[in-house]
Amino acid sequence: MLKKDQFYKDILDGLSLFYESRFIRDIRNTALKYPTSSLGNALNRRQTASKLWLLDSLNETHGDDLGSVHILGGWCGVLASLLFHDSRFNVNHITSFDIDPSCAPIADSLNADAVDRRVFSTETADILQLRYTADSVQINDQKIGACPDLLINTSCEHLEDFDAWFSALPQDTLLVLQSNDYFSEPEHVNCQPNLAAFQEQAPMRDLIFAGELEFDKYTRFMLIGRR
Ligand SMILES: C[S@@+](CC[C@H](N)C(=O)[O-])C[C@H]1O[C@@H](n2cnc3c(N)ncnc32)[C@H](O)[C@@H]1O
Repeated sequence: MLKKDQFYKDILDGLSLFYESRFIRDIRNTALKYPTSSLGNALNRRQTASKLWLLDSLNETHGDDLGSVHILGGWCGVLASLLFHDSRFNVNHITSFDIDPSCAPIADSLNADAVDRRVFSTETADILQLRYTADSVQINDQKIGACPDLLINTSCEHLEDFDAWFSALPQDTLLVLQSNDYFSEPEHVNCQPNLAAFQEQAPMRDLIFAGELEFDKYTRFMLIGRR
């Protein structure tokens, strides 16, 4: 009988050798250590296509230098990993925030290379509790770091109190936001019916990108700009 774990491990081993890729090696190690449906979903075709669309659009509209980045609702850390392994970008540091404590160890494992280089860290926190000042970010009056250069949230459809979250964001930080019209998912409490509705919900004084990407089950929307 086929031993599936060994089967997939062998294939990923071979691929990481062929591509000399730390990216694939970290995916392989994470899949072996955390064989969860969540990790499979985070790496599926639609999720990956949505992240690659983000990388291409960000590079075309903003350029290569990202500085320090906060990824909010960062889940398993796939977007951080894709940013680190995209040679177009210069990234100083990425912090991935998620309210679910099971996400941090998976994201750390998927970004093991960046953790070793001390350019990736995780925070288990409700992003609605983050307070941005001119030079710092705080949770419950505790300073956790400097205000980031770039703030990414591809989980806007999951935020019940989106308006409170959005209005507390810093005004000079570049924002990349994604949402979708996938209303049938129970966890999607803040879907938008179309791109215009998303733009109305997240008004930007300096909008540099607005677009949509259609899939079989839903359409994803993305905005890049400053609030
Ligand atoms: C299913 S995932 C991500 C889906 C999204 N399409 C993506 O790929 O980025 C949504 C994540 O948002 C997180 N999340 C939801 N509400 C949050 C909050 N208030 N603070 C921090 N993380 C939150 C969830 O724990 C989950 O890991």
